Amino acid sequence: MAGRLRNEHILVTGGGRGIGAAIVEKCILEGAEVSFIDLEEEEAKSLLKKLDQDKKLLFVKGNVCSVEDLKRLCDSAREKFGSITGLVNNAGRNSYADPVTMTEQQWEDVFDVDLKAAWLTAREVLPDMITNKRGSIVNIASVHANMTYPSMFPYAAAKSGLVGLTRSMALEVGVHQVRVNALSPGYTETFLVKEFFERNDPSLREKVLDVHPMHRMAEPSEIANCVAFLLSTEASFVTGANWIVDGGLTSRFAG
Ligand SMILES: NC(=O)c1ccc[n+]([C@@H]2O[C@H](COP(=O)([O-])OP(=O)(O)OC[C@H]3O[C@@H](n4cnc5c(N)ncnc54)[C@H](O)[C@@H]3O)[C@@H](O)[C@H]2O)c1
Repeated sequence: MAGRLRNEHILVTGGGRGIGAAIVEKCILEGAEVSFIDLEEEEAKSLLKKLDQDKKLLFVKGNVCSVEDLKRLCDSAREKFGSITGLVNNAGRNSYADPVTMTEQQWEDVFDVDLKAAWLTAREVLPDMITNKRGSIVNIASVHANMTYPSMFPYAAAKSGLVGLTRSMALEVGVHQVRVNALSPGYTETFLVKEFFERNDPSLREKVLDVHPMHRMAEPSEIANCVAFLLSTEASFVTGANWIVDGGLTSRFAG
C-alpha cells in the first residue's frame, strides 16, 4: 500500500543506514516528506542519491545527543517542509561494557544515545504536535527490553528505559491526540548485528538462526513496514504500546 503518509512530515534519527535508512525509504514511498539526521555523512549521501527525491528529503549531519544539532535539524526541517507530524527515534548503539570496570562516562555515552536523545528529540517536536493536535512518535527499542544476552551490559537497561519513557510520554500527550509507541525489533540484518556476531564465536550466527521460528533474521524493510503503520492514521488508537517485531524469537524459551 502506498500513500499512507501523504501530507506527513516525518523526522528520522540515525536515518543514514540500517533500519533508519529503510524507514526513510518507506516513508518516502508512502508519500511523506522526510528529514533525517545522522552522524555519518557518507552513507546518508548514498541514500539521498539512491532515492533521488531532493524535493521531499532533507539530510542534516549531526549528533542526536547535542541539543544544538537537534535545534539546527528541526529549524531546517520546518523551514523546508513545515511542522513535523511524525518522529522516529531510531539512532542507537550497542554496548559491551563490564558492570565492574565500566566508567561513568561510558555509562553516560550509552544512555545519552539509547535513551536521553529520544526525549531531547521529542522535546523539539512536541510543541507543534500539541498545538496541531496531531502527531505520532515511534521509539525504536529492542527485544533486549524484555530478554537480554550476556556481555551486552547495560544495553537492556537503556532499551527498557526507552519503553518506559514511551509509556510515560504517551500518557502525558495523549489528551492532545499525539500518540507515542515503541517498536522492539529482534535480530535485523544491519551493521549492529554484524558487529555483534564479529565479537563472538563464528558459530553463534547458526545457533541464533536455529532458535528463530522462521529460521531467519529480519530485513530492515520488515521493521520499516511496521513503523510506517504506527506513524499512519491506520494506527489512530494505538498508543503507549511496545510492538515486538522479532519473527517469534521471544515466544520461545530453551528446550
Ligand atoms: N539491528 C538489530 O538487530 C536491532 C535489534 C533491535 C534494536 N535495534 C535498534 O534499531 C536502531 C537502529 O539500529 P541499526 O541496526 O539500524 O544500526 P546501524 O548501526 O546500522 O544504524 C544506526 C544509525 O544511527 C546513527 N547514529 C548512531 N548514533 C548516532 C548519534 N549519536 N547521532 C546521530 N546518528 C547516530 C549511525 O551513524 C547509523 O547510521 C537502534 O536503536 C538499535 O538499537 C537494532
